[in-house]
Amino acid sequence: MTDPRLESLLQAVPGLRLETAQAELEHYGRDWTRRWTPAPLAIALPADAVQVQSIVRWAGVNGVAIVPSGGRTGLSGGAVAANGELVLSLARMNRVLGFDAIDRTLTVQAGITLQAVHEAAAEHGLAYPVDFAARGSCSIGGNIATNAGGIRVLRHGNTREWIAGLKLVAGTGESLDLGRGLVKNSSGYDLRHLAIGSEGTLGIVVEATLKLTDPPPPTQVMLLALPSFEVLMEVFAQLRSRLRLEAFEFFTDRALHHVLAHGGQAPFDEVHPYYVVTEFAMQGDTDEAAMLAAFEHCTERGWVSDGVIAQGESQAAQLWRLREGITESLARYTPYKNDVSVRVSAMPAFLAEAQALLARGYPQFDVVWFGHIGDGNLHINVLKPEGMVDAEFVGQCEQVTRVLAETLQRHGGSISAEHGIGLVKKPYLGSTRSAAEIEVMRGIRRVLDPHGIMNPGKLFDP
Ligand code: FAD
Ligand code: MLT
Ligand code: ZN
Repeated sequence: MTDPRLESLLQAVPGLRLETAQAELEHYGRDWTRRWTPAPLAIALPADAVQVQSIVRWAGVNGVAIVPSGGRTGLSGGAVAANGELVLSLARMNRVLGFDAIDRTLTVQAGITLQAVHEAAAEHGLAYPVDFAARGSCSIGGNIATNAGGIRVLRHGNTREWIAGLKLVAGTGESLDLGRGLVKNSSGYDLRHLAIGSEGTLGIVVEATLKLTDPPPPTQVMLLALPSFEVLMEVFAQLRSRLRLEAFEFFTDRALHHVLAHGGQAPFDEVHPYYVVTEFAMQGDTDEAAMLAAFEHCTERGWVSDGVIAQGESQAAQLWRLREGITESLARYTPYKNDVSVRVSAMPAFLAEAQALLARGYPQFDVVWFGHIGDGNLHINVLKPEGMVDAEFVGQCEQVTRVLAETLQRHGGSISAEHGIGLVKKPYLGSTRSAAEIEVMRGIRRVLDPHGIMNPGKLFDP
């Protein structure tokens, strides 16, 4: 440990665990984007909130930038440390601190994984309903910092809906106890909601009090094959009006192709251009009749070409894997990811334009569509052809994204539905937020991070 700044940090925070080995710098300096070369100063792994506060105070005095780090499953470069920053990993702060049966809340340290939260809630006969494929690695702190969505948003909403309170060590070094678990609190600005979605730019979330809910009802999982993109919203409207939907996710045949290349069995004998995995409450004959009626309605109109209804939990998990396995199956192509949203009602008009634009923009690339169509959220992944240089690939994709951002702006949509802006979508923030809004955000950031040490370069510049 030759850098004198690290000696000074250890003096300021006695007992702090610091990692400086090259392998650790590489491991903690990147997220799932894999676009930037990790180059952090060191990795700090505090044991508790007091140590976090001391690190932030030290960083403020010494002008050292901090990158807050959860599970680094982020897809927008938010947790990337490529410029000599100190990575502050919450990995050791991963405990459940308390459960309140009357409030139905679980209080956790921010480094706990989403899956551990699911398990802790289940131990008390309750559920934490935010869910997605990175559950085993992503942290609650990271989920809060990105306002993560996932596969159950259409029933339960985003992370924001489930945060009863949180503790934030702001860039000033102050510890702010925000929300405090109150259901009702009409006492001025709700600063908790500023921290949610702030991507580590205002401070470090060290603790969260999560709302829990009843466990989901018994459900049924169904895979549908669709003949065209145009009928997708019709099928969604039908199913939503007849069933209590928990999830409605779509993907294209290209997505299925990549998932199956990783293993598994094709669900249908024939290839279909589009698929939907949907999950809905199934609590008796009435639900079953509604499901059959919805299926019949869609097949009669030619909106659905084929379908599989899961026979038991294991088949349900297999069907879900076809959707949840997509990100991992594409990772080796270092995909250029678009994560866009519009209001559900604006989806058909936006889709018509976006499809034409992407067909024009990417004639030579493998483009994989999937996403949470029921929430108005589309993921469009462009795969890097083998042998193409990174910079050239990203450059070509950025040209299309500029037009996509304009299209989204016209339809009142967002350039980042759930992954955050980070580094990846920073040039396009202005397509979703007005100049006045960004200026207000700058002002807020200056107040909570006066030394400019919290995740600089991410989200927007000072
Ligand atoms: P990181 O990647 O470590 O960090 C993300 C951002 O949060 C960074 O800006 C970081 O600085 C900041 N941060 C992290 N911890 C803290 C903290 N304690 N305090 C302050 N700031 C902090 N996302 C979805 O929304 N929906 C999905 O369906 C979804 N599916 C995914 C599937 C896969 C297979 C993968 C790999 C990713 C998926 N993601 C999804 C993206 C990712 O998992 C989420 O963005 C997640 O919330 C990131 O959590 P993390 O702990 O990994 O955060
Ligand atoms: C998903 O919905 O699977 C994710 O948001 C991850 C991705 O876009 O790759
Ligand atoms: Zn998603």
